[in-house]
Amino acid sequence: MKTLKTLLAASFVATTAMANPSINAVKVDDGVDLSKIKADDKVWSKAKAVNLLLYPQTTIKMNDKNANELNAQNVAKEAKVLAIYNKNDVAFKIEWKDETQNATDIKSSSNEYADGFAVQLPTNFSDPQKLPYIGMGSEGRPVLVHLQKAVMTHYEPNGNQVVALQVNRDNTNAFEEDLAAFDKNVSDAAMSDYQRAYIAEGFRSMTQIRDNGIAFTMDMSYNKEGWSAIMSKKIKDDYLDLGASGAFPVAFAVWDGAKFGRDGLKNLSTWVAVDFEDKKGDEALVTELTKKPEGDAAAGKALADTMCASCHSYGDKVAPMPTMAPNLSNIGGYSTHAYLVESIKEPSAVVVPGYNRNAHKNTAWYTLGEKGERVSTMPPMMSDEKQIADTVAYLLTLKAEVK
Ligand code: HEC
Repeated sequence: MKTLKTLLAASFVATTAMANPSINAVKVDDGVDLSKIKADDKVWSKAKAVNLLLYPQTTIKMNDKNANELNAQNVAKEAKVLAIYNKNDVAFKIEWKDETQNATDIKSSSNEYADGFAVQLPTNFSDPQKLPYIGMGSEGRPVLVHLQKAVMTHYEPNGNQVVALQVNRDNTNAFEEDLAAFDKNVSDAAMSDYQRAYIAEGFRSMTQIRDNGIAFTMDMSYNKEGWSAIMSKKIKDDYLDLGASGAFPVAFAVWDGAKFGRDGLKNLSTWVAVDFEDKKGDEALVTELTKKPEGDAAAGKALADTMCASCHSYGDKVAPMPTMAPNLSNIGGYSTHAYLVESIKEPSAVVVPGYNRNAHKNTAWYTLGEKGERVSTMPPMMSDEKQIADTVAYLLTLKAEVK
């Protein structure tokens, strides 16, 4: 019996001790124009691929039975990520499996949901322990979000770049070179229409950036297996300087439009360090984001079951009311170590903004303090460092499996 217990404990620890990888950005020739890069460019062969796991964001119970059911069945997704850079730009390539190609038809406001992806970057990452909330930033900790949704291609005879007014390609009488030129115009217009940049300090505060202070490129192409996407941008623009130290944090999200949810089902990574090959000064961020949990996850579960399950749902625990507090079922998938420590010690440092509007006011996630600041209804729970480390080690095991 004792051996079996020890064996089980050993295998438990083995799965929990996995650290997140970092992305090694490989330097390429300054002559390569990364703002025009495509997913199938040869230059990607120099890059080092990393597999990241993206998790369903199960924080809030939605007012939508269908979406909640799909969310409940959802699993983690694997994405292959590569990064390259040169003097001016940095570029990512992201590949993930998706059985169906779903695009929105922007001519109609139908209930079609689109596949898509987003690249999220903190505007300030000088303190790797105080990164923004992963779900679109938080008060005082803004993020920049680059988003692309797949759109159906419509065909535009007039070259006026208004995709919504285009006629069907079959109804044109263009052919050969005319048709090729026409197709190119149209695809350029279609793509640029659904690439957006936002600045956000929390999910409900997303503001689209429409000025020229930001330059970026996004592109998505579908093959039988799934999507291959690229995103490139200037290392420094009016909003952030990714070259401020030798590394910067990034998070990726992908949407599956076939899975009806909120605008398609979203899977999200945690903050991952991107390490510039030839720049120094990256240690603090990389070390922080690739840290292995040191605590005892089994002891942490016992603590959580007595101290946290009265408000939170996770693992085999179901909170008395689902709207009382964020669901922690996937918290280990999209949270950093430091974020979890902070959430326990100092709940008001980041107040999760996704409060369910239809919930009873007794289950509000925050109240307003004297200066109008949000004060979490979660009290600081622990101060003992060993207890915190154990609880965090356990929280980091809470995440969906890959299918
Ligand atoms: C009285 C109810 C209550 C208790 C008990 C409680 N929490 Fe919370 N917790 C909340 C609420 C409400 C929020 C959302 C507001 C915020 O971000 O602080 C939250 C947020 C969190 C978050 C951030 C979730 C996210 O999606 O980012 C974590 C992590 C967390 N709690 C962990 C814990 C742990 C671990 C315990 C036990 C040691 C615990 N909580 C006990 C109410 C509670």
